[in-house]
Amino acid sequence: MRIRLQKIIADAGITSRRKAEELILAGRVTVNGQVVAELGSKADPEHDHIKVDGKLLRRAQRHVYLLLNKPVGYVSTVSDPQRRPTVISLIKGVKERVYPVGRLDFHSSGLILLTNDGELANLLMSRAVAVPRTYHVKLESSPKREDLAKLEHGIVLDGQRTAPAKIRVLTERDKPWYEITLTEGRNHQVRRMFERIGCPVVKLKRVRIAFLTDDALAPGRFRHLSPAEVARLKSWKASP
Ligand code: URA
Repeated sequence: MRIRLQKIIADAGITSRRKAEELILAGRVTVNGQVVAELGSKADPEHDHIKVDGKLLRRAQRHVYLLLNKPVGYVSTVSDPQRRPTVISLIKGVKERVYPVGRLDFHSSGLILLTNDGELANLLMSRAVAVPRTYHVKLESSPKREDLAKLEHGIVLDGQRTAPAKIRVLTERDKPWYEITLTEGRNHQVRRMFERIGCPVVKLKRVRIAFLTDDALAPGRFRHLSPAEVARLKSWKASP
């Protein structure tokens, strides 16, 4: 059966469907020896020889869904040009090639999903679905109430207004802890938002992705999602 190339690449666990499109456009994908650089091209994963960067794709694998508690000091990419430790190095005893869904900064900790299911990765990253992610942040100083209201309402970052956010105080100290829930994930978004109101983040931990939380997961440990959790994520809809 002929299927879109980006789906075949995502299903083989190489990367998400969106990233696969970038690989195709960059001319890094060949089908039976010919570069295919157009989106929408199809191939037959059973019979065609599909290569990414010269490497033959393996057949679709069993889908794996992992929830990792990332410690500070790990990059959330599959490889790192600076040779820093990656989240993948924490995944022991899983033979499938998984990759992280979205990012957590090197200096951030907390929950991150890893999978080889390009379809689900794509869904969770899509703006339309707007999966909420909740962070606990320790701030350098106490923010003003009106500044928090600005962040909740939306501020302009990179020329685009941020989506509404929910913020609540967790502990009032000279370096207070706050909880913030976002439905989008721009680069360093939480840090940049608090920076904007003059209260830099000194610690950042992601504590929830959609409905997924896990207090029992020690830093550096991961667990497989249950079939019910996977089904619930797959049918996740943005709240109106
Ligand atoms: N926002 C940030 O600034 N950093 C993260 O790691 C996640 C969200």
